[in-house]
Amino acid sequence: MTTVGILTGGGDCPGLNAVIRGAVRKLSNNNVETIGIMEGWRGMLEQMAMPLTVSNTDGILAEGGTILGTSRTNPYKEPDTAVPKIQETFAALGLDSLIAVGGDDTLGVANKLYLEHKLNTIGVPKTIDNDLSGTDVTFGFDTAINIAMEAIDRLHTTAKSHRRCVVVEIMGRHAGWITAFAGLAGAADVVLVPERNVSIEQVCDILKRNRADGQIYNMVAVSEGAVLASSDMVTQDGEVDEFGHVHLGGIAKNLAELIEKHTGYETRHVVLGHTQRGGKPTAFDRMLGTRYGIKAAELVLAKDFGKMVALHGNTIVGIPLADGVGETKVLTADFLAVLDEFHST
Ligand code: F6P
Repeated sequence: MTTVGILTGGGDCPGLNAVIRGAVRKLSNNNVETIGIMEGWRGMLEQMAMPLTVSNTDGILAEGGTILGTSRTNPYKEPDTAVPKIQETFAALGLDSLIAVGGDDTLGVANKLYLEHKLNTIGVPKTIDNDLSGTDVTFGFDTAINIAMEAIDRLHTTAKSHRRCVVVEIMGRHAGWITAFAGLAGAADVVLVPERNVSIEQVCDILKRNRADGQIYNMVAVSEGAVLASSDMVTQDGEVDEFGHVHLGGIAKNLAELIEKHTGYETRHVVLGHTQRGGKPTAFDRMLGTRYGIKAAELVLAKDFGKMVALHGNTIVGIPLADGVGETKVLTADFLAVLDEFHST
């Protein structure tokens, strides 16, 4: 009998448990044992593991987060010591292969271990940000946009009652997918994304135009990673994670102050933060996670390593891990054109 490890790395995301359950089911149906590696790559460095079976994964489908825990541990911070530890864990746990579920960082490590050390890895793309280039959609995105849209729906009624402007800060480090979908679906007046540089004057012109058209309040959706043209506002702190990413946050507060100053409209800000990553996955994310998990197991069974599962159209495919990592998928021109329709003054 072969043994397969599975880990979840990077920020958690609704649908991770669906992937775990799907992979375990497919492997178990083929008499292959699965071991869960705890807390991402940290578990491979410290040999933290738990057995996974059909019975202990069957009830996890509706649960958010990951039953394995996660971390942003980067073995390539100190590869000389970390890689031998990972090789030791493979041997100690009797692993033939490892399914790594994660974003660009986690999958980048899986790719290097495959290319440089011939370790049998398979990747499953995950992020609420939906910014991985190799796949049309990442699971977690659908849940996040529905959470953010519902929050905006709720903010409309309070903003309207008080005749206020509300600025909502939405996750998405380098790409505005969540903000564009939730902002447009939530009928925000202005949707600010990292892909478009808009000035505070333009923002306020749109808000004033909408008030002149009879609107009595305003809603602004802004990506945590958006940049306001010719502004020096600070939207990150000095902290970086093990992969060198800064910690973003603060744009909504800054923007709300500027809007109030430029328009005179009473303005509040709300940071949705990690609520967008928490709770039950939508049916779409449960299904996509399940299909990804099954496909990852199929690649393991076929010994087709160094691959990442991906959604192309409506089909789940396996593509080289190297093609799936490294490049950020940003909002495409057709989505930006939809935003622009609501931004013209
Ligand atoms: O990459 C997913 C993401 O949720 C980003 O949208 C956000 O910037 C980041 O993770 C937050 O990370 P952390 O959980 O470490 O605060």
